[in-house]
Amino acid sequence: MPDLHGKRIILGLTGGIACYKSAELLRRMQDEGATVDVVMTAAATGFITAATLQALSGRPVWEDAWDSRMDNRMAHINLSRGADAILIAPASTDFMAKLAHGLADDLLATLCVARGAVPLLAAPAMNHEMWIHPATQRNAAQLRADGVTLIGPAEGQQACGETGSGRMMEPDQILRALIAFFQPKVLAGRRVLLTAGPTSETIDPVRVLTNRSSGRMGYALARAAAEAGAQVTLVSGPTALDCPDQVTRIDARSARDMHAAVLPLAAQADIFIAVAAVADWGIRNPSARKLKKQPGAQPPQLDFVQNPDILAEVAALPQAPWCVGFAAETEDLHAHAQAKRQRKGIPVIVGNLAQHSMDATDTELIIFDARGTHPLPRQGKLQAARQLIGWIAGHLPETHAAPIG
Ligand code: CTP
Repeated sequence: MPDLHGKRIILGLTGGIACYKSAELLRRMQDEGATVDVVMTAAATGFITAATLQALSGRPVWEDAWDSRMDNRMAHINLSRGADAILIAPASTDFMAKLAHGLADDLLATLCVARGAVPLLAAPAMNHEMWIHPATQRNAAQLRADGVTLIGPAEGQQACGETGSGRMMEPDQILRALIAFFQPKVLAGRRVLLTAGPTSETIDPVRVLTNRSSGRMGYALARAAAEAGAQVTLVSGPTALDCPDQVTRIDARSARDMHAAVLPLAAQADIFIAVAAVADWGIRNPSARKLKKQPGAQPPQLDFVQNPDILAEVAALPQAPWCVGFAAETEDLHAHAQAKRQRKGIPVIVGNLAQHSMDATDTELIIFDARGTHPLPRQGKLQAARQLIGWIAGHLPETHAAPIG
């Protein structure tokens, strides 16, 4: 099911060149199942036409507080009733000032003031000097204090040719922030540490020993934990994936790098989720030079050394976080997973069959704890991750559930 299935969103456009991105945002929201009603300020119509947004949304576009298409001429009331959220993108300097002061001099501003409990999100878009202006910063702080969720702005090249903070977030980022907004905040205030991806053991400067883990499951879990309101740190082996929004990523190559990155962070975490496919062995003496073939010579002999077990060491810490391991097995999943859970001294291990999930976009997880097994349906990794995060939040013992002080 798409992430915005059944949601009705009011997309408000205010005056800014970033209006050209709002058409794409509208499409992406619809792709995720949302019904979108567009409301524009007069300034926004200078940048994009109502016809474009009406054609894309397939619904009337609203610009005028006196619009007679509403039987009672109260578009500012009728539109927000029953809406799941109002998203202002772009939110101009002027419109943020209006919102912060409760002005109601056009349809969109009036609708925001009259919205009652409907959540309001805004993606600021303006020249960087306008963004850092003390009045704008005051207004942004006031909006946050009033419970408005600000998405961005982003840093970078601006339409005016200057560079700085103030450009609107890209449509995909705004969409993800909107989707995240609707996820239940079951881990609000918790600190979650994860490992993800493969590790890579150096043989020589050009060769490594690695595995087929894509990192997708760990990254999906990091995203789901952040969506659930946690403060998330992801220690990642080499992957091609983008760091999820609101997640701090620390890169590690070898199992020993990963071990060195994780251990100092573990005692401050409430939950540790070890998803990385950590190499069990490293190369004892990696060559400083590229190994060359010698005519007639034997292939090189690799001498292995056992790597530390990161999960078992974290679980054994005096201030250990609540530990969730992963077990990708090719056979006897139940027996191997339960044995691994006990051997590593952890309360929970999540099992899957490696041949069905290692390179795949979906997965079928089974949660193992002291009471037995809890199978989840086969589904996309993000859906599985959200379900697993929900399960973790529901089973987190009181001792690990204290919110950040
Ligand atoms: N793990 C870890 N450090 C290691 C090895 C594994 O933190 N050196 C973690 C993994 O991230 C995973 C769990 O332990 O959460 C199980 O990993 P797995 O490789 O399946 O277990 P091993 O202990 O290596 O057992 P085996 O290779 O014998 O199946």
